[in-house]
Amino acid sequence: MQTLVADHPLIAHKLTALRDIGTETPVFRRLTDELVTLLAYEATRDIRVEHVTVQTPLAPADGVTLARPRPLVIPVLRAGIGMLDGMARLLPKADVGFVGLARDEQTLLPSTYATRLPADLTGRDAFVLDPMLATGGTLASVFSMLAERGAASLTAICLLAAPEGIAKVHAAFGDDYPIPVKVVTAGLDERLNERGYIMPGLGDAGDRLFGEI
Ligand code: URA
Repeated sequence: MQTLVADHPLIAHKLTALRDIGTETPVFRRLTDELVTLLAYEATRDIRVEHVTVQTPLAPADGVTLARPRPLVIPVLRAGIGMLDGMARLLPKADVGFVGLARDEQTLLPSTYATRLPADLTGRDAFVLDPMLATGGTLASVFSMLAERGAASLTAICLLAAPEGIAKVHAAFGDDYPIPVKVVTAGLDERLNERGYIMPGLGDAGDRLFGEI
C-alpha cells in the first residue's frame, strides 16, 4: 500500500482553514470541495487510460481517454457525500456507488448499514471518499468489499489521516497485496484520542459538513 501525503502550499492553506473551529459550514463545504479536487489530481495519477487519435483542425494527434470499464467513485456515508462534487468535477464520467458505515461509539468498530455497489468490479479502478481515516476500520471494510467484487485498484481520498488508521489499512492491504492500493491525504496528524478522533484533526467531519444530528 502506498500512502501519499499531498505536499502543496495550496492544500496546506485550505486544510488549515478547514481545521479552524471558526470556519462555518458553508465555507467548510467549499474548502472540502476544493481540497478533494486537488487531492483527486494526485489520486488519479495512475488511472487506466486507452490511447486514441483525435483530429485537430490541422492534423491527427495522439491522445488518451479514460479506459472502459469506467472508474467507480464510492463516497462513504455520511461525510463522504461532502466530497463527491469535488471528485465528480475531475471524473464526470465515473459511476458512483455508495456504502454507509456507522461507528459504534463504545467499541469504535464499524458496521455496514447500506451498500449500493455493482456486483462485479472486474477491471475497474475504485476511488473511496472518506474525509477522516481514523481507526482505519471503515476504510479496511470498504476496501475489502471492493476487492471481493474484483476491483482493479483501490484508492482512498481522505482529508486527514491518523498513523493508527494508516497502520491498520496497511496491515490488511500491505505491499504484497495483489492489486495497487493507495491512500491520498492532505495531512497526516499525530494520533487518535480515546474517543477515536484524530488529533489535532478538525472535529467531526460529518457534523461540520452537514450539522449535528
Ligand atoms: N471521524 C471524524 O469525523 N473525525 C475524526 O476525528 C475521526 C473520525
